[in-house]
Amino acid sequence: MIYVFLGPPGAGKGTQARYFMKRHDKLAHVETGQLFRDAMKRGSDLGEQVRQYMEAGELVPDDIVMELVEKRLVGAALDDGFIFDGFPRTIEQGERFDTLLRQKHRPIDAVVYFAISDSAVVRRLDGRRVCTNCDRTYHRTYDPPTEDGVCDRCEGELVRRSDDSPEAVRKRLQEYHAKTEPLVSFYREKGSLKRVNAEQNIEPLRNDVRDALDL
Ligand code: AP5
Repeated sequence: MIYVFLGPPGAGKGTQARYFMKRHDKLAHVETGQLFRDAMKRGSDLGEQVRQYMEAGELVPDDIVMELVEKRLVGAALDDGFIFDGFPRTIEQGERFDTLLRQKHRPIDAVVYFAISDSAVVRRLDGRRVCTNCDRTYHRTYDPPTEDGVCDRCEGELVRRSDDSPEAVRKRLQEYHAKTEPLVSFYREKGSLKRVNAEQNIEPLRNDVRDALDL
């Protein structure tokens, strides 16, 4: 199965994707933002290429993103299932992704659109904290760790993501509305869009995502 999680930054795409990944062994999570953050941590050429865009809250150029996704899919058994989280993010990426999947004879099964207001996004990103060691995500109010600032899973330090600063969040929302939101109509016209109300708390939202994925 091929699923796409589409929506603004902070809508809860990663939180939901990680939940379903844990319960479905064979499902793979392709989170382009995390792949770029890993590359930056390693100090690779790709990391250096994308750093300036990520830190400013701008989208990474389409050619760089497509190269990363194509590499990720080389030899992959698409039958096992993939959640693409935060990809595609422009109409050009959407069209190039369609071509890639056509070559592999695999249509997208569902595009889950996480609908949420900008004000809720700002609250979520303002309170988000991420473990510097294992990358687990928390929220100071909505999903707090047991001990403030410490990861429950590995006792790593919890910090704010560098692109969760108020200026970067404003830019990310602008980029989303200008370049990513048009994909909502793109996929609605293709008949694959399933809208969920992402303003809900984590558990009720999970039920709606499960229905949308038909899992
Ligand atoms: P990326 O890492 O993909 O960031 P994003 O899309 O901006 O998404 P986030 O990770 O911020 O949010 P999320 O929806 O996963 O929310 P989360 O579950 O964490 O991309 C980062 C950057 O990489 C981009 O800006 C761009 O530069 C680049 N990039 C990546 N892909 C690209 C592409 N395809 N093209 C070009 N550039 C690309 O939840 C947020 C918070 O809310 C957490 O604290 C969580 O605990 C809490 N929370 C989650 N769900 C709920 C809920 N239901 N109720 C209350 N709180 C909740």
